[in-house]
Amino acid sequence: MASIGLSVNFGHLSLRCVSPEAARAGAAFSAGGLVGKMVEVMPQSMNETELLTPRLRLTALSRGDAFAIADALGNFAVSCWLARVPWPYRLEDAYAFLSQAELATLAGDVRIFAIRAEGEPALIGLVGLQGLREEPEIGYWLAEPHWGKGYASEAVAAVLDHTFSQLGFASVRSGVFLGNDPSLRIQKKLGFEIVGKSLRVCDARGGAQPHIDTRLKVANFRHAMMRKKADAAVEG
Ligand SMILES: CC(C)(COP(=O)(O)OP(=O)(O)OC[C@H]1O[C@@H](n2cnc3c(N)ncnc32)[C@H](O)[C@@H]1OP(=O)(O)O)[C@@H](O)C(=O)NCCC(=O)NCCS
Repeated sequence: MASIGLSVNFGHLSLRCVSPEAARAGAAFSAGGLVGKMVEVMPQSMNETELLTPRLRLTALSRGDAFAIADALGNFAVSCWLARVPWPYRLEDAYAFLSQAELATLAGDVRIFAIRAEGEPALIGLVGLQGLREEPEIGYWLAEPHWGKGYASEAVAAVLDHTFSQLGFASVRSGVFLGNDPSLRIQKKLGFEIVGKSLRVCDARGGAQPHIDTRLKVANFRHAMMRKKADAAVEG
């Protein structure tokens, strides 16, 4: 994943995660306005937090998402940029991921959002945070038919806003495997900085691959969002 392509892997989850999801909370509220019309809704419990962006709904995962996950990650063009995603990816891998994700979410170190688009019955991608007890790491992927529409930028911005505004973190880690220029472009637009290079295992490609490590500070994210808003105003 970002390493969703990172060391994070939202297709097959490592279980070091933990942190209690909080109680049922109230009504919809604005998440600060920096990501346009994004709205955060916390109608039931915090692990069911729903983020609304102009075009997308980011929700909790359900068992019914297994087919869409298996379909998307069964595509090497997606999985080759992710870290610990089994290959070939089968339906049983998706069910195992969902079980692990459920436990890890309850434990509290992971928060994973399904990306849903209007008119699309199935999930179209995932954005996830892991390491919520320390500095979180964000990862994401989108099913190939949905690439090139700005969906990943929109979804990742919403989850970052949630991470900083609601979860209270001051920075987030991420990264991309070398050559993943669209993902690096997304991260740079959101204010991420390159902080190093490493080797990370990519299961789909069968070994360690060169990886660009990135990090986002809350101030840089705010600045990037304000710049985006100003650019949109200029464009009319
Ligand atoms: C990476 C991924 C999430 C991008 O999703 P997406 O919805 O198509 O991304 P967006 O449209 O929001 O943004 C992509 C940006 O990269 C740019 N881009 C596309 N191809 C590019 C390339 N070859 N080189 C540089 N930039 C490129 C796009 O123009 C866009 O930038 P813009 O908004 O300034 O125009 C998607 O391709 C994916 O899931 N890939 C496989 C898994 C993956 O790589 N996950 C991330 C791991 S770090």
